[in-house]
Amino acid sequence: GNGCKLVGCGSAVPSFEVSNDDLSKIVDTSDEWISVRTGIRNRRVLTGKDRLTGLAVEAAQKALEMAEVDPDEVDLVLLCTSTPDDLFGSAPQIQAALGCKGNPLAFDITAACSGFVLGLVSASCYIRGGGFKNVLVIGADALSRYVDWSDRGTCILFGDAAGAVLVQACESEEDGLFGFDLHSDGGGYRHLHTGIKENEALGTNGSVGFPPKGSSYSFIQMNGKEVFRFACRVVPQSIEIALENAGMTRSSIDWLLLHQANQRILDAVATRLEIPADRVISNLANYGNTSAASIPLALDEAVRSGKVKPGQTIATSGFGAGLTWGSAIIKW
Ligand code: ACO
Repeated sequence: GNGCKLVGCGSAVPSFEVSNDDLSKIVDTSDEWISVRTGIRNRRVLTGKDRLTGLAVEAAQKALEMAEVDPDEVDLVLLCTSTPDDLFGSAPQIQAALGCKGNPLAFDITAACSGFVLGLVSASCYIRGGGFKNVLVIGADALSRYVDWSDRGTCILFGDAAGAVLVQACESEEDGLFGFDLHSDGGGYRHLHTGIKENEALGTNGSVGFPPKGSSYSFIQMNGKEVFRFACRVVPQSIEIALENAGMTRSSIDWLLLHQANQRILDAVATRLEIPADRVISNLANYGNTSAASIPLALDEAVRSGKVKPGQTIATSGFGAGLTWGSAIIKW
């Protein structure tokens, strides 16, 4: 067969909870402002010695258990993250912690909030074209590491989490990834970025600096209004293209599962696509925007609660920094 299907999902979040009221003690904001403008009420934050890799391993183990697949059978681990524990790649450490024998390939994919959709499509390409059988796609981010906790425009939005799915090779009749659409627009990167600090990278004088001082990344810089407009413009278009590539129409969609950035973005996209509110999956009230983790985290909750049922069709879309965006029409 030349098909690929989703056979398991899992997720994990840090135990430390930060409410809107907690935030109103450190910046000039309120539960009302945050709830009305974003729909977010709580988020989880990685603290102390906890590592993102640990969350990712937990999410991946749950996905493998659901799929009843042994770690030894995994032949590719894709970690979608923009906040790795190790800049050289954290996926190999996850592969080792899971106990995958035979040294299967494991590497990181960096595409911010679009990372998971890109990972899903990449998994399907490795399966269809490369003979891979069991691909773990993990979305995990800890944006709390790069949030300016004195900037009320950004610190209210983000949370940390990990989510995972297992994508498996199958007969073409069982195929569960119907169509996709992926894009980038680097010209718009300045609307949302966390760049390397230039003067430190260059050295002490700002010109020729040798030996270079250690580098670090700036806080998250965001133009919220621009990102909002960008998302509302590109996401409906992208889903329409993915549907067309799948040979489907809007009426085929059982669930709309968007990157959980802001409830107003979810509502605007659903309205544009004429998808009723009760077909829109949303759990951002509890977790905020968890970047690459948000789609698999929301999928996992929806599957385990019985909301999303086997055989149902999901239109999913990620969008954010890069700028990047992408959609996929999938079957659970
Ligand atoms: N509490 C109280 N007031 C605030 C807060 C806050 N937390 N933040 C901003 N304000 C103030 C502003 O200072 C401004 O005041 P002013 O009118 O006196 O200047 C006023 O509220 C309105 O601010 P806006 O920025 O215009 O508010 P907006 O309605 O655009 O909401 C928000 C801001 C929530 C950030 C919204 O723009 C948004 O969600 N954008 C999308 C952001 C996003 O999803 N980013 C992630 C993408 S995914 C990724 O790749 C990581």
